[in-house]
Amino acid sequence: MKLTVKEVKELFKPKLLPIIWKDESNTLTILDQSLLPFQKVYVDLKDVENTALAIKNMQVRGAPAIGITAGYGMILALINNKNVKTLDDAIRELTRAKTILDSARPTAVNLVWATSRMLTLAKNTVESGNAKAVNELIELMKVEAKKIFDEEYDAEIQMGLYGLEKLNDGDTVLTQCNAGGLATGTGLGTALAPVKLAKALGMSVSVIAPETRPWLQGSRLTVYELMEEGIKVTLITDTAVGLVMYRDMVNNVMVGADRILRDGHVFNKIGTFKEAVIAHELGIPFYALAPTSSFDLKSNVNDIKIEERDPNEVRTIRGIPIAPEDVNVYNPVFDVTPPKYITGIITEKGIIYPPFHENIRKIVER
Ligand code: MRU
Repeated sequence: MKLTVKEVKELFKPKLLPIIWKDESNTLTILDQSLLPFQKVYVDLKDVENTALAIKNMQVRGAPAIGITAGYGMILALINNKNVKTLDDAIRELTRAKTILDSARPTAVNLVWATSRMLTLAKNTVESGNAKAVNELIELMKVEAKKIFDEEYDAEIQMGLYGLEKLNDGDTVLTQCNAGGLATGTGLGTALAPVKLAKALGMSVSVIAPETRPWLQGSRLTVYELMEEGIKVTLITDTAVGLVMYRDMVNNVMVGADRILRDGHVFNKIGTFKEAVIAHELGIPFYALAPTSSFDLKSNVNDIKIEERDPNEVRTIRGIPIAPEDVNVYNPVFDVTPPKYITGIITEKGIIYPPFHENIRKIVER
């Protein structure tokens, strides 16, 4: 029997609240993921520059979470802004805000998707005369930003239910990075949603989390998040991925995605490609889970910029040197998995199977 979204909402209550918007005070507050799990600190984001910086510094990270944050960041562009008196001023400021937010990180498509959606809403509202003043426009933008959040949460529940069809009691799932509720802002997640719903239904499903060098999203965030939910998790080094699959310790690989192209190329955290190739070689199912807002049906694989971050992330671990300080470093933080290694892509609209170049459009544009 398949549960409904409403039934899941009654069954599963997220333990983490990574993004909080307060309508009364127009404040945006995020749980600072750069400090977890050692400190649980919430920070207020005051303006667009502040929001873009928090995304760039990964105080908020994960494709859907940066989309949601940027959506609210667009509203901050108009709040207490002395340069915005008319609706024309508002559109000008929002266009400027979009440029600033979009440039914060290059790989996840959700960022540009969310700022485009907010700017389009604002332009349509002004053109159609649906707002007579800036404060009315702000109110409509708040409704849209909340919709982005709510749609994301509902999509994660649907993905969780589709993913659950691939899990059996006693299974172990290998993941990569953190594609949980911290990464999506909702407390549920994409790749971790099936495991969380399995737990809520009384199944015993455990997770193997690679530490995910250099930023350690696996050891700091996935492990923390799953332990908070009471889900059994085992931390491994990134270099142990092959062995755990070879030794039959993994039934299923489930990862998130930052961008999925129309031919099925999946951009996700560095290390994902390796997991996919090994899983394919050993006959272990490999699924990418992402909402349709993470699809980019226009670009080609070589068009996508893979973010490279500070070399010191590799030369050190959380400030402690682990290499000669002047060593040359290459630090790409995403990789791309070719479609031939992917068993299926789980979205809120259903599971997409190969041939991806035919089936992605059919499902995503439905
Ligand atoms: O660099 P990050 O931590 O933002 O990277 C996050 C990932 O790669 C996630 O797997 C992806 O964004 C999907 S999140 C549901």
